[in-house]
Formats: sequence, structure tokens, C-alpha cells
Amino acid sequence: MAKNGFLIHYLRTAMEKEIVLSGIRPTGFLHLGNYFGAMRNYVRMQHDYNCYFFVANWHSLTTHPDTKTLQESVLRVVAENIACGLDPEKVSLYVQSDVPEIAELYLYLNMLSYKGELEKTTTFKDKVRMQPENVNAGLLTYPVLQAADILIHRAIKVPVGKDQEQNLEMARNFADRFNHRYGEIFPLPYAFNYNSELVKILGLDGNGKMSKSENQMTTLFLADDDELIRKKVMKAKTDQGPLKPHSVKPDYIENLFTLLKLVSSADTVQKFEDDFNNSSEGNCIIRYGDMKKQLAEDMVKFINPIRSHASDLQNNKDLLLKIIKQGADKARASASVTLGMVRKAVGMDYV
Ligand code: TRP
Repeated sequence: MAKNGFLIHYLRTAMEKEIVLSGIRPTGFLHLGNYFGAMRNYVRMQHDYNCYFFVANWHSLTTHPDTKTLQESVLRVVAENIACGLDPEKVSLYVQSDVPEIAELYLYLNMLSYKGELEKTTTFKDKVRMQPENVNAGLLTYPVLQAADILIHRAIKVPVGKDQEQNLEMARNFADRFNHRYGEIFPLPYAFNYNSELVKILGLDGNGKMSKSENQMTTLFLADDDELIRKKVMKAKTDQGPLKPHSVKPDYIENLFTLLKLVSSADTVQKFEDDFNNSSEGNCIIRYGDMKKQLAEDMVKFINPIRSHASDLQNNKDLLLKIIKQGADKARASASVTLGMVRKAVGMDYV
């Protein structure tokens, strides 16, 4: 069968490469911090590794989101990731709930995870503080589901930020426990980002990381239109300029340079670096107004094509669903191999 032929070919070529996996939470709109902190790395990895990227919609249920909003967010996140350069032919881009094998592995792993260790995780304790009225079992076992996400493909490289270290450590513990009890099935997964520090992008007021939930005017979203991008950049925090040559840049100025380096030409960056370094009190050469105007235009050039590609895809739901189905087929082909081994090891293989 043609379809099986495609899957067999996919699995064969995929088997020769190391497996990378990451999950994307479908909350809110993706912003520049997500792009430069994560997605750009995913795009790079798709050439070097056998990649699985998925939208973690089961995890989202822990906070009881509105069903329709969640569905829309899932489709938007898929569209935005493709618009940023993920090639659904190269990677497996899927939605978690389309791969029921993950849920079964979660069940087995739940038997090996202890209430005490789950209660101790920082993310759980944070959630208990934030939503004391909804401390459900799904919240408690969030790290177990995340471990199942990873282990179902026997992935070893997981591109995530620092905030996910503890969840990864738990995934390693569960994998190790399983291996000891039932036999070596799972390699141990580790965080991976090409040995490079992830680019950290602050909000345009310089206060903390760019984020979905903080002040929307200080975050640049991939869905922002040209005018809004200009407006946000022009409102970014600056000051009267450096008081002596070669000053240390305050965080909010450094952040503008970081953004400039990401979207503008090397010449442009150099010009403003020089202007900054040659400025002193009473002789301020750098004009932050001009720098922001330039940044705004280059930012528009950067975000505009991503936004239009993403919105084209969102308007073509048939295509989007076809892509998601193709991702699920690839993910299930891999997941069912692992689950077959797991069932056999646990003695759950009667039929
Ligand atoms: N917990 C991750 C986050 O908050 C999302 C996630 C779910 C994930 N499953 C995963 C990340 C598996 C890496 C691997 O961002």
C-alpha cells in the first residue's frame, strides 16, 4: 500500500538519526521570545535529527480551558510553527491527543511514580498556589505525561529551556525505574540546545522575559500587524543616552541591540554600536528614536511574512488538518513500536 510504503520509508530513514522531541503548549499567541528561544532551534534541528514536535493539548486540560478556544489555539500553533520554518514533510508535527499510545504509556508510568516526588515538583507547587481551587490529579501527574510524550519515541534530545529541567530529570527517573523493573527499553533523555545559551529576549520595557501574559504592549507577537509592531517598538523604553564613551548598556538598551542583531543587517548593528560607544554626556551621538525606527522597519520585514504564511494556513483548514493527520500517522508509527515493546515487557500483550 502506498501509504504504508511511505511510513516504512520514513521510519527507515528516521532510524538512522538521533531522535529529538519537544512539546509546545497551545496557550496564547507565539511571540518573538518563543521564536528566538525555541522555534528557530527546532527549525535548525529538523535538518540534523529525526524530529518530533507536538502540541501538548492534553496537558492544557489541567487548567480546564474553554474547548473551542483550545481547538483554535492548537490549529494556530501548528500554523505558526510551519510559518516559522518547520517542514511537516521533514519532521513529525502532530497533536498529542491524536496519539493514544502516549496515554497508555502514561498509565504504565503512573504506576512507577510516587505521590511524594510528584508533590515536590516546583511546577506543581506553583500551580497549587495559583489555582488552589483546581488541584486535580492531572496537574499532579503532569511530569508523568510529559515523560510519556518523550519516552514513547525513545527520544534522547529534548530542546527545552531551563524551566523544564526538573521535568526532564523526572522523565529520566521514570525511564530508569522502568528499565530496572522490566528491562532496558528507554534511553535516558536530556535537554539539548546545540551547546549554546538560548537567546533571552526581554519585554520592550526591559522588565523580565518577553511573555504571553505580561503587558501585551511590551511583547511582539508573530501575529501582530505592521502598524502594531511599529507602535510597540517606538514605545520601547530608552533613556537620555550614555554618559560616557563605552558605557555599559542598561538591560532595556541591551535588549534593543539584541533585537537589532536578530533582525537587522550587520552594518546597521555596527553603526548603532559605534554611535553608542562614541557617545558621552553633552555629546550624545546615538539617536534612540532613529534606532527604534530602523528596528521597527526591520522587525516588520521579519514578522510580516511569518504572519501572512500563518494566516494563509489558518484560512486553509483542510490543508492544516491534512498536515496534522500526516504528523499523527508518522508519530503513531513510531509510538506503536515502543508501545509494543512496553506491553510485552509489562506482560500486557494478550492479543
Ligand atoms: N511542559 C512543557 C512546557 O511547559 C511542554 C511539554 C509537554 C513538553 N510535553 C513535553 C516539552 C515533552 C518537552 C517534551 O513548555
